[in-house]
Amino acid sequence: MSNKDREKWDLRYTEGAYAQRGHPSAFLVEWLSQQNLLSCPGAALDIACGRGRNSHYLAAQGFSVDALDISAVGLRLAQVSNAECTSRINWQQQDLIEHPSIPRDNYQLIIMFRFVAPQLLVTLANFLAPGGYLVVEEHMRWHATVAGPASDKFRVAPGELASLLMDQEVIFHQEGLFEDPDGVAVALSRIVVRKRC
Ligand SMILES: C[S@@+](CC[C@H](N)C(=O)[O-])C[C@H]1O[C@@H](n2cnc3c(N)ncnc32)[C@H](O)[C@@H]1O
Repeated sequence: MSNKDREKWDLRYTEGAYAQRGHPSAFLVEWLSQQNLLSCPGAALDIACGRGRNSHYLAAQGFSVDALDISAVGLRLAQVSNAECTSRINWQQQDLIEHPSIPRDNYQLIIMFRFVAPQLLVTLANFLAPGGYLVVEEHMRWHATVAGPASDKFRVAPGELASLLMDQEVIFHQEGLFEDPDGVAVALSRIVVRKRC
């Protein structure tokens, strides 16, 4: 496990990172409401789940969620939250860059939100069941100051997600300036891929 990443994120969560940001992603909520997945929710995977805001939301919609993150502190905070349906969430500490351990052809839905890992991203369709969806949202490089990571290392370039996933069936792609549910302005790149049956 990459001790540096784990220690960095453990410290951030210990110091209260994202404590006030328990809302699920607006994009995830809106996108799911437009799909028929909600009539028959199955297995979902939350990549780098952090304090679990999106895992909690998916579990509340009826999904059985595998929620993976490198930070034991983040995972512990996620588990003690007041969210409902946490019994449907399997929290697991994993270094998803160095040693990902994910079952193949397994998930109806995989989400990766605000965790930039191109080498992992291009493998994620392998873990989707046929017909399953990969939903991704990343901070994007922007010409003006916006919220999110200070370093471009933790942002994607415009067009980068589409380029990385060009071999997949992309069914949605959107980039620009958005407002998070707490009113913060963010530059985002969003993409949805469907695994061919
Ligand atoms: C900006 S937070 C995003 C959390 C969550 N996806 C969300 O949108 O609320 C990035 C997360 O990536 C996790 N992370 C960083 N490096 C990782 C690694 N190598 N393997 C797994 N998780 C990692 C951190 O612990 C942190 O929870």
